Amino acid sequence: MTNRDTSKAVSRRTFIKGVIAAGAAVSSANYLFRASTLLGQPQSIGVAERLITINVNGQQRRVDVMKQETLAWTLRYKLGLTGTKLGCDRAECGSCTVLVDDVPHYSCSMLTHTVRNKKILTIEGLAAADGTLHPVQQGIIDEQGFQCAFCMPGFIMSTVGFLKANPNPTRAELAHGVSGNLCRCQDYDKILTAMMRGAENMRKANGV
Ligand code: FES
Ligand code: FES
Repeated sequence: MTNRDTSKAVSRRTFIKGVIAAGAAVSSANYLFRASTLLGQPQSIGVAERLITINVNGQQRRVDVMKQETLAWTLRYKLGLTGTKLGCDRAECGSCTVLVDDVPHYSCSMLTHTVRNKKILTIEGLAAADGTLHPVQQGIIDEQGFQCAFCMPGFIMSTVGFLKANPNPTRAELAHGVSGNLCRCQDYDKILTAMMRGAENMRKANGV
């Protein structure tokens, strides 16, 4: 290779490095910028954030929230609680389910401003402080439920909420109770078996 070829190769390598670095910078900027936009809409007049306090997993959290911001958005992109999944983002799949005052709700379809003074429980708040899994979580380990597990946090939160009101359900009752949750892997039979085991674990834990 001549000196001229070598210098061309070096400058091409430098050029490619520059493009990759710029791409990485743009990607990171997009990710960070996402936190202060809603559904790709940049903030504009009338959507200013307001600092509010919400109770999440037993902690008072101060957070800047836009007035039309959903709870799922706040949990994931403002508080970093990404265990709550966003599937459809339109109240159809249940993957975003969290408990609000012990009742399961689709967090993609609730405005964060409406949950002030309520207690939010997400999948991150289920295990005990010492790391002991919640009985329903343990049921999944026991039965090896779920395939890809994208839908799992939503199913768990729905089941935990359902069991609070119905601690000893039949399989059919529990199936009805979590019917607002969809699994794209269609692993329903195994999921239900795991949830029934979770219900059993919970009754044992409560001495029932
Ligand atoms: S993401 Fe909320 S119901 Fe699908
Ligand atoms: S196990 Fe994959 S979406 Fe439910």
